Amino acid sequence: MIEIRNLNKSFPDKQVLKNISVDIKDGELFSVIGPSGIGKSTFIKCIIRLLKPESGEIVVDGQDIGRTSDEFKLARVRRSFGYLFQEGALFDSLTVLENVAFGLKYLTDIPKSGYAKIVREKLALVGLKDVENLKPAELSVGMKKRVSLARSIAAEPKYILYDEPTTGLDPVTTGMVKDLILDMRAKLNITTVVVTHDLNLALEISSRVAMLYGGEFVEVSEPAKFRRSENKGVKEFMEISHLSRK
Ligand SMILES: Nc1ncnc2c1ncn2[C@@H]1O[C@H](COP(=O)(O)OP(=O)(O)OP(=O)(O)O)[C@@H](O)[C@H]1O
Ligand SMILES: [Mg+2]
Repeated sequence: MIEIRNLNKSFPDKQVLKNISVDIKDGELFSVIGPSGIGKSTFIKCIIRLLKPESGEIVVDGQDIGRTSDEFKLARVRRSFGYLFQEGALFDSLTVLENVAFGLKYLTDIPKSGYAKIVREKLALVGLKDVENLKPAELSVGMKKRVSLARSIAAEPKYILYDEPTTGLDPVTTGMVKDLILDMRAKLNITTVVVTHDLNLALEISSRVAMLYGGEFVEVSEPAKFRRSENKGVKEFMEISHLSRK
């Protein structure tokens, strides 16, 4: 379980997260939505402490990493996370095999001789085979996304954080990635946090949706309830997203 208490994060010119508190329970698929530049990436970067908040607790399975500088503790907790970067961030000079295996060295004690088998398994889970020796430049956008997904689950994390998993993808590939997210959760029982500005996606796949606005979660609820929210920010966002309030 991830317990977030009174999380505050600022950049020099503005406070992006204001006193955010939320519990993400084991097995949940928790989505954070909100317009561009509102602080969604900042939120998940704080969860795995790629960014250090000014104050607040981030308790992962009982370990508070909110403000710790203990690198061993951070490394230990980070082992339970997979992370899909907003930018995809595959290494162009490395093969698919090397990309997917990249974290195994830091996140697991698996010997190098075991990497190829794991990579093949994870690629199969995302529906790819015989691509191990290709470089990212030889892959389509959708295939790159699948390889990034395979990399984020390679070390079999307990938690996975997806930053804009469908942005920039065509509708068919978006549907594919959506199914993969649900599949990963079902097959590997991964607790999942998705940040996205795709409200449609969030409402379809999540157990709970949180709307980030003005630095706060102005609504946190199950999709059906979320659709009926009376919050002004939510209503506006629903309209912009062309979704009806059923
Ligand atoms: N390292 C940084 N230094 C200074 N400002 C930053 C930094 N990272 C983010 N910001 C600012 O914080 C705000 C929130 O950024 P963030 O990337 O979290 O938004 P986002 O909701 O993920 O946006 P998008 O939907 O476009 O990905 C933005 O105004 C951004 O310019
Ligand atoms: Mg972002």
